[in-house]
Amino acid sequence: MHRQDQLEPSPVSLSLLHWYDRHRRTLPWRAAPGQRPDPYVVWLSEIMLQQTTVAAVAPYFCNFVTRWPTLAALAEAPLEDILQAWAGLGYYARARNLHRCASLLSKGRGGRFPATAEELEQLPGIGPYTASAIAAIAFDQPEAAVDGNVERVISRLYAIQRPLPEAKSEIKNLVRALVPLDRPGDFAQALMDLGATVCTPRSPGCNVCPLGFGCVASKSGIAETLPLKSARQRRPLRYGTAFWIERADGAVLLRRRPEKGLLGGMMEIPSSDWRAERSHGEDEAPLKASWNKHAGRIEHTFTHFHLILEIWKSSIIETGELLTDGHFRWVMPEDLSAEALPSVMRKIVAAVDSPKPLLERTVSS
Ligand code: ADE
Repeated sequence: MHRQDQLEPSPVSLSLLHWYDRHRRTLPWRAAPGQRPDPYVVWLSEIMLQQTTVAAVAPYFCNFVTRWPTLAALAEAPLEDILQAWAGLGYYARARNLHRCASLLSKGRGGRFPATAEELEQLPGIGPYTASAIAAIAFDQPEAAVDGNVERVISRLYAIQRPLPEAKSEIKNLVRALVPLDRPGDFAQALMDLGATVCTPRSPGCNVCPLGFGCVASKSGIAETLPLKSARQRRPLRYGTAFWIERADGAVLLRRRPEKGLLGGMMEIPSSDWRAERSHGEDEAPLKASWNKHAGRIEHTFTHFHLILEIWKSSIIETGELLTDGHFRWVMPEDLSAEALPSVMRKIVAAVDSPKPLLERTVSS
């Protein structure tokens, strides 16, 4: 349990809450002012928001709560259905843990979530940040929920010169000292909103910031340069080639990724290994073909690296031995949206699909 020594809320907390009352974002998982949050809704949204943006999560969240409005409904759903509905959100271990957690709570605790961060953290898929966020938002516990947005706000407020990730525990302690005893859930969400809408990575809105009166970085004109990041935090670059292979009837070749590892068990446009070197040869393609090596290019950021994929394209007539390999599947373009394709693969589909500009229109009679 983290208790701050303060008896009175700090001016920072008061100003932030006052700002939140006027500028809070309306989000599909957020309880209206004065309404009690539903822990199921809070938990579901926090799991979805791990490593993903609010904009990306919103449609998935709405679909989930429409299909599975309660924890019990989610616990009873087949895992396959959940994975299918999750496709595109990435990091599929999260969807598996979601299901495990729902079953565990439904069977063991009568479908009720524990109310403390310590207990929440024992559940599948709930790490320290998510436990603090759920405890604060769903149960109004005075917990410090510190994500990347909050790290940025606090780094600037105190002009922290130590880089991330080394500064993490210092930042967490500073937030703990600010969490008010009254409305800690709103305080957590207010910090998130401030980081997302005002204290943004580039061009922060210091002139409209409710914490401007006490922000050391803003007063020194260095807000945009913070937080500092150590070399450890910068993501390495990896390169690869994705092989877009079309059959004569238009079907596209997909491959199932190995169960273990990144995007385990998901479908992919077959691709080479993702490595630090740029060079990838035709021998890494799943079949011999004549390639258009300039069909497109996409970039995608994973937690631990940034990926650049060149797209090579070919049309083939003979499918040969591929048909007997269970990892491969031919899928018609109109059916691709129903496949469990992770976001990085959807980017490839979009890049190949994107209509070329019509330079000339010829009319034939
Ligand atoms: N990021 C993580 N959790 C969030 C929440 N509850 N609201 C807005 N952004 C978030």
